[in-house]
Amino acid sequence: MLGDFTYANPTRLHFGEHAMDALAEELNRFGKNVLLVYGGGSIKKNGIYAQVVKVLQDCGKNIVEDGGVMPNPTVEKLYEGCARAKAGQVDLILAVGGGSVCDYAKAVSVSTYCTEDPWEKYYLRMEDVDNPIIPVGCVLTMVGTGSEMNGGSVITNHQSKLKIGHVFGDQVFPKFSILNPVFTFTLPKYQMTAGFFDIMSHILEQYFSGTDDNTSDYIMEGLLRSLIHSTRIAVKDPTNYEARSNIMWTATWALNTLVAMGKTTDWEVHMIGQSVGAYTDATHGMTLSAVSLPYYRFILQDGLAKFKRYAIAVWDVNPEGKADQQIVEEGLQRMEDYMKEMGLVLHLRELGVTEDMLEGIADGTFIMEGGYRILTKEDVITILKESM
Ligand code: NZQ
Ligand code: ZN
Repeated sequence: MLGDFTYANPTRLHFGEHAMDALAEELNRFGKNVLLVYGGGSIKKNGIYAQVVKVLQDCGKNIVEDGGVMPNPTVEKLYEGCARAKAGQVDLILAVGGGSVCDYAKAVSVSTYCTEDPWEKYYLRMEDVDNPIIPVGCVLTMVGTGSEMNGGSVITNHQSKLKIGHVFGDQVFPKFSILNPVFTFTLPKYQMTAGFFDIMSHILEQYFSGTDDNTSDYIMEGLLRSLIHSTRIAVKDPTNYEARSNIMWTATWALNTLVAMGKTTDWEVHMIGQSVGAYTDATHGMTLSAVSLPYYRFILQDGLAKFKRYAIAVWDVNPEGKADQQIVEEGLQRMEDYMKEMGLVLHLRELGVTEDMLEGIADGTFIMEGGYRILTKEDVITILKESM
């Protein structure tokens, strides 16, 4: 049963090998001063930076550079970006990179003209934006987060050991995003597969909740099947356009708000993963892969019917003559086999987590109430121990 909702997605997407052709027209909708945001330099090596700068110059824009956005962008970097955006009186923030760069661009967008400390206002107090917002556009180079078509913006505060995401409203979604699957070909395997699992996790976080019959669950099963199919090809043949383009599109749909409409969602894996990230600065998708199976095995009995459906509809487990328990276990075993095939991280130790961190990681884990079980702090510690 679908609950009440209002649906609109304000981001205009340009997808495909020639998607960059749309950039000039998009840029012309905005003023002259553009904050060009990017990461640690991959776009300079693979030529994307040169392509973007050429379009900006041809459009007669003043470029204000803001490079060096780190994976898991920090609050210190956010303050720096706000100062640059303000000094440059920028009319548009153009993010060229992955989720970190896009998330950071959105954070700068809402924080530059914020009269209070944006970390406290948006990330600790979760308040809405009531000051002018600078529009954001994206050229995506890494697939996974869905940041290209959503209002999510995750910022890390190493001092307080907190990594927190604020999901902003429509006005903060990118105004446009350019998605060329070829731009993702240069990703190192570790980042590529971390992105694959991030996509899977986004879908599962929204799937494993509720007991009603809901169109969104059927859409998600389709997305998962496509994802599993294409990632199996891409992991062996990373420049396979067909596979990479399907994965890129799936990533966007996994977290552009559509599949969450009219249903409840969980997000506990992300809460644990984010707290692990705050302690280790590990790659986001790998924090999720390390904790997912122990988490799902922990809550299995509370959501047995859905885990059974998952095993059959997504992993093709044949239910004939089998008890429910056996079906769900086979489903999760197939998921584990797939994760091994992808070369994903399955143990927190590999991400630098040590036993003495577990208490703190559990303290930094927000408890969600939409999943099949509401965890206690002790439950989180049990899951973390299982994930070591
Ligand atoms: O910094 P550079 O040099 O560009 O290198 C990056 C970075 O090291 C590299 N990279 C990106 N595109 C590349 C490339 N290398 C070669 N070729 C390319 N084409 O990949 C590394 C990782 O990039 P990053 O942007 O950090 O990855 P991702 O897209 O996974 O973003 C992670 C961040 O997004 C947040 C995460 O928490 C994390 O902070 N999330 C955002 C969400 C949202 N907006 O809704 C939801 C997610 O659940 C997630 O929490
Ligand atoms: Zn994620």
